[in-house]
Amino acid sequence: MTNKRKVLGQYPTPIWVSDALVARHFSDLDENDIVIDPACGPGSFLSAIPDHVPAVGIEIDAAIADEARQTGRHIITGDFQQVQLDFQPTVIIGNPPFNMKTVDGFLHRAHKLLPDGGRVGFILPAYAFQTAARVAGYANEWSLMQEMIPRNIYPGLSLPLVFAMFSKDRRRTMLGFALYREATDVQALPQRYREVMSSSAGPVWKMVVEEAMKRLGGKASVTDLYAEIEGERPTSTKFWREAIRRTLRRYAESFEPIGHGLYRIAI
Ligand SMILES: C[S@@+](CC[C@H](N)C(=O)[O-])C[C@H]1O[C@@H](n2cnc3c(N)ncnc32)[C@H](O)[C@@H]1O
Repeated sequence: MTNKRKVLGQYPTPIWVSDALVARHFSDLDENDIVIDPACGPGSFLSAIPDHVPAVGIEIDAAIADEARQTGRHIITGDFQQVQLDFQPTVIIGNPPFNMKTVDGFLHRAHKLLPDGGRVGFILPAYAFQTAARVAGYANEWSLMQEMIPRNIYPGLSLPLVFAMFSKDRRRTMLGFALYREATDVQALPQRYREVMSSSAGPVWKMVVEEAMKRLGGKASVTDLYAEIEGERPTSTKFWREAIRRTLRRYAESFEPIGHGLYRIAI
């Protein structure tokens, strides 16, 4: 394998794959859209976009950009992260190089370029979504959807693959993702509560509430408990607040209600 091929991630997508992905996720495209493939290679996705839908390819490698011109589409030679564009795309679709710095650079540029409602559809390695903090970062800017696709659509590839959709809207939905926001929140809790939560013995939320109540002098309001457990780093989903309320209700023998929203450790 040549070094350039490796560095630039030059692995073209089989046309049947781009056809199937465009049909599955972008069947609504019409002449009012403008599609960009930001790393178009020889032009697999460009060939899959119906002729009546405007589409432009961007490709950093001049020789490959020439190949892509055979699709009949306008091809700009350059780096998608920096290239000058005098139009606004509505959809960005493709298979960027599997290098997370480049992928994040592409998403950053895409977010700046797209109007509200604009979408990005990328083939990505599954490791793009392996940590909670990375995905929570994406979810702050986009609604997310991902689905697994077979890795052997690329001969010899040994990485699990996904097709991911990033939608620039206010819904901030996460389809095909579970526990990412929660994991990010748990990681943001003060260390003493993280330690209790990673202990393998006993009902962890009961242990967390007990520890917090002890630190608050044996009695506390629900609001005090939230503030104590959250610490100085406000978290985003606060799913754990519901866990605290549930725990107070469930372990009534341990947490005695002594007033409106006020509890003490039962003796
Ligand atoms: C994995 S290939 C995919 C090509 C095409 N999207 C497809 O699916 O067939 C990635 C392509 O992106 C090009 N490329 C790499 N970095 C780029 C960048 N920063 N801007 C534009 N193109 C880039 C590479 O030369 C390569 O042709």
